[in-house]
Amino acid sequence: MNLCVIGTGYVGLVSGVCFAELGNKVICIDIDEEKINKLNNDIMPIYEKNLKEICSKNRKLGNIEFTTDLNYGVKNSDIIFIAVGTPSLPSGKADLSAVETVAKNIARFINGYKIIVNKSTVPVGTQKWVTQVIKQNQIEKHDFDVVSNPEFLREGTAVYDTMNTDRVIVGSDSQKAASIMIELHKPFNAPIEVMSPESAEMVKYAANAFLATKISFINEIANICEKAGADVSKVAKGIGLDNRISHKFLRAGIGFGGACFPKDTNAIVKIAEELGCNFKVVKSVIEANQIQKLRAIDKLIHALTDIKGKTIGILGLSFKPGTDDLREAPSIDIISKIQELGGKIKAYDPIAIENAREVLKDIEYCNNPYDTVKDTDAVILATEWDEFEKIDLEKIKGLVKNPVFIDGRNVFDYENMTKLGFKYYCIGKIDAEFEGLKMKERYFSK
Ligand SMILES: NC(=O)c1ccc[n+]([C@@H]2O[C@H](COP(=O)([O-])OP(=O)(O)OC[C@H]3O[C@@H](n4cnc5c(N)ncnc54)[C@H](O)[C@@H]3O)[C@@H](O)[C@H]2O)c1
Repeated sequence: MNLCVIGTGYVGLVSGVCFAELGNKVICIDIDEEKINKLNNDIMPIYEKNLKEICSKNRKLGNIEFTTDLNYGVKNSDIIFIAVGTPSLPSGKADLSAVETVAKNIARFINGYKIIVNKSTVPVGTQKWVTQVIKQNQIEKHDFDVVSNPEFLREGTAVYDTMNTDRVIVGSDSQKAASIMIELHKPFNAPIEVMSPESAEMVKYAANAFLATKISFINEIANICEKAGADVSKVAKGIGLDNRISHKFLRAGIGFGGACFPKDTNAIVKIAEELGCNFKVVKSVIEANQIQKLRAIDKLIHALTDIKGKTIGILGLSFKPGTDDLREAPSIDIISKIQELGGKIKAYDPIAIENAREVLKDIEYCNNPYDTVKDTDAVILATEWDEFEKIDLEKIKGLVKNPVFIDGRNVFDYENMTKLGFKYYCIGKIDAEFEGLKMKERYFSK
């Protein structure tokens, strides 16, 4: 089929490349000329595993092309995907200005029946609104349908997720559009659920709100475990074996970040409010996550008492492993707080350093974990990259000035870390802080 994908970010680029890989002809559009130039020279503007290889191959085969020319994209395709950003407004609502601009521009160039598919995460009612925007701005009158088709890929595994999606949601009132969408998605071999646009739009927010709830739930259980002397990884295993719960999204840590969970949880609270509902559970999830992001700071203060003038090494900056994305990453909150308290930062990330330089200033960026920890007063592991799991801990111990290690992602083992001589803190397990509490209890019980 002939497709146009507008917005070549994490969602648009990966979707476009995967549709091309399945034999469709895809025109990818972006307003960012630099991005399009890069893509036309086989340079990926984002990091995603296998993306470059599949993209280059399909560009050479003529299955995918990149341009800023929306007119060309719309006129030469039957299905047009909108995959532009919908960031949070200060109120928490989703900013639909990019979707509106794109809808108006599509309207100007429609030259025959088109299906306009909204892949961006948008509030309930957006499909109807986009339909109106297009109708009002059409120059030539042609039939079209607007379909809601929320995206569920995860950054870090976006290509794999797209090719192996566990479901396709098609929100459409038009049988014609729904059957073309079913045809397009058949090669993915996944269940395809057709429903109303409103339900489809709700599926996306409900899914993200539920997953964020699962993360905050296990993080709060972790905080209780620390006080109770329990081990959250064992608790997570114990509850995850119940197939009604499952083990996924039960890894305790220093909170969720990224381009989706923070903005989508805020947006669904706003959507609920506008409909006269109070989404109390998700409000608590948002609050719990804000607190959780600073758990590492609590532990740092416990270990060092005063952060002023101290040097802290940060291992990992992206909001999760496998991506160069720093949007809403816990590392940003942690670093800002340390700087506010007068601490100095050395930092390393295997992929995200270039993006980090744009948002995190006054940092000594290092080329590897060992240079990062050298002469530091404490180390915080903020992202669980594979590289850190294989790190030479004895070498790390020999390089630091003070052996305080705060493992925000529970990568290491308490016994091994203490045996190596670290003052080891982690999330939801026995750690140096808990040992400290036990000692206090012993002291008071005498
Ligand atoms: N990133 C994810 O993991 C993910 C997963 C599922 C859904 N989503 C949703 O998908 C949407 C896109 O997210 P993303 O992470 O890919 O965003 P992104 O910021 O990575 O990419 C958006 C792209 O749209 C381009 N753009 C903006 N305005 C444009 C215009 N008028 N014309 C053409 N291009 C324009 C930008 O230049 C940018 O390249 C959002 O609504 C997001 O919530 C994201």
